[in-house]
Amino acid sequence: MIKHVRKSKKPSNEALSVAELQKHINTEFIGKITKYLPEVDSTNEEAKRNSHFPIGALFIADSQTNGKGRLGREWSSEPNTGIYMSLILTPALPLRKIPQITLIAGIAVCRALGCDSLIKWPNDIVIGSKKVCGILTEATVAQDGTNCIICGIGINVNTTKFSDELSEKGTSLLIETGKKHSREKIIADVINEFEPLYSRFIEEGFSPFLDEYRSLCSTINRDVSVLYKNTAISGTAIDVDKDGRLVVKTDNDTITVTAGEVSVRGMLGYI
Ligand code: BTN
Repeated sequence: MIKHVRKSKKPSNEALSVAELQKHINTEFIGKITKYLPEVDSTNEEAKRNSHFPIGALFIADSQTNGKGRLGREWSSEPNTGIYMSLILTPALPLRKIPQITLIAGIAVCRALGCDSLIKWPNDIVIGSKKVCGILTEATVAQDGTNCIICGIGINVNTTKFSDELSEKGTSLLIETGKKHSREKIIADVINEFEPLYSRFIEEGFSPFLDEYRSLCSTINRDVSVLYKNTAISGTAIDVDKDGRLVVKTDNDTITVTAGEVSVRGMLGYI
């Protein structure tokens, strides 16, 4: 693990610049308030600690000491190379719709990244067969009793080092394109794409995005193994339904799977 030593709070050349980020953001409310930290345990946790911030508040960090992935996994957060960002979103959503935020954010990330990025249902953005981004949407009750929804996005931008576990299945924009990318520009691109999607989602739900999600979803038509409460169910992913659930055809049945509950693996490797 690379040790990150920062002597002063002044951002180094490599650190994120909020001024640079704000130059690229052209939204009405998402990312208008930005809290930057050189280092934090997890931007999702930081957002939860600041859940009184307005909807759209953005938390970004150059490094996470306890980055979190789905299903209790760790999110490797190499300093100054990746994007670690979290947004505070409206708490006024029925529970069943919360996983759909992940799907909407996935569309925003794919639009922002381009370069043939696709979505491995529900929350991985992949290029080729490797993961470049993960999304973790969490609903929690803050200390003051208010509900709070946080959407956290981690993107491997200029990342070159992956742990042994991730080296097989992780990639970065630098690896895929052969050049370094501005993290500020990518954060802004994601936010600029996310805001109109999110606003429409709040008004109209997930249905308007179904066609685009399906076209971006690399899981459809793949043989998958769905791990639910320690039981593996094998089948073919045949669709994503209007509520954003994965439809899997097994030998005897067709089941719908809700994001948040399961881990999905391709039968022939990661995707
Ligand atoms: C996953 O693929 O399992 C989800 C990974 C989500 C990682 C991001 S990085 C920013 C935010 N803070 C966290 O601790 N996790 C999310």
